[in-house]
Amino acid sequence: MSTHAPGARPRHVTVHELRRMKESGERIAVVTAYDATAARLVAAAEVDVVLVGDSLGMVVQGHESTLPVTLDQMVYHCAAVRRGLARGDGRAHLVGDMPFGSYQAGTDDAVRSAMRLVAEGGAEAVKLEGGADYVDVVRRIVRAGVPVMGHLGLTPQSVHKMGGYVVQGKESEKAQQILRDARALEGAGCYAVVLECVPAELARIVTAQLRIPTIGIGAGPGCDGQVLVLNDLLGMDPSFTPKFVKRFAELGAAAQEAVARYAAEVRGGTFPSDAHSFHSSALRLMPVPAEEQGREEPPDAMGTPI
Ligand code: KIV
Repeated sequence: MSTHAPGARPRHVTVHELRRMKESGERIAVVTAYDATAARLVAAAEVDVVLVGDSLGMVVQGHESTLPVTLDQMVYHCAAVRRGLARGDGRAHLVGDMPFGSYQAGTDDAVRSAMRLVAEGGAEAVKLEGGADYVDVVRRIVRAGVPVMGHLGLTPQSVHKMGGYVVQGKESEKAQQILRDARALEGAGCYAVVLECVPAELARIVTAQLRIPTIGIGAGPGCDGQVLVLNDLLGMDPSFTPKFVKRFAELGAAAQEAVARYAAEVRGGTFPSDAHSFHSSALRLMPVPAEEQGREEPPDAMGTPI
């Protein structure tokens, strides 16, 4: 049962609100954002959770995997997204991804990394990949006061161990391990868990067995919420067509068309037109004597505001 009056939305989505949403059967909408502009857009679209995913390594930085992303870079992008969200209604819950190498080496390291994402990046929670092997790490971060979202199934930071980006848990033994991992993460204090590229049947069972919300990506409709990479759902890269992505727009094609028209107008001399130009009827200029050329002048402090 919702504790909110019909139509009233909580001012801010907390870990408790996400648990309540699971209990009341309200689906949780999660999307990635990597910069302030995207953050403003997704917040205005009233998503519940914004994830600064280390997928930015591929989407923003152009790497082949998420492995080269550093903690400094994650902090930088989290802070940009936090500033973007601050310009909206402040409702969305912000999660920062723990990048490869920021938590695997030990619990002290992991706590320090999580704290940076919160203190410097403005994240309210962190996400990390891995199951039962990471319960000590999860416990320590949670004990330090930082909520942790787990991530099971296809875990991109283990791409080499998995032998590629392939669906996980198709056989009973591996599926059973994923279920065990999910229970272990819940027991260690995770407040939610992402299930990436696992059979819908497995995701449904995990979701039913956990009290914390499951957030699916390529895990079928039976999860408590769904997450997609913003650029994927906007169709920014028309050549990227994995089965689990639905393109809700074709912004890649629209952007390419817009830039091509801009370039054509620049070349044709039709942009900028008079409407995009500044004017002054007060200009009385003298030719610049040859001996003054090359002399450094201070900038004009009384420039025209745009
Ligand atoms: O890095 C990311 O964007 C993610 C989501 C796809 C879950 O981990």
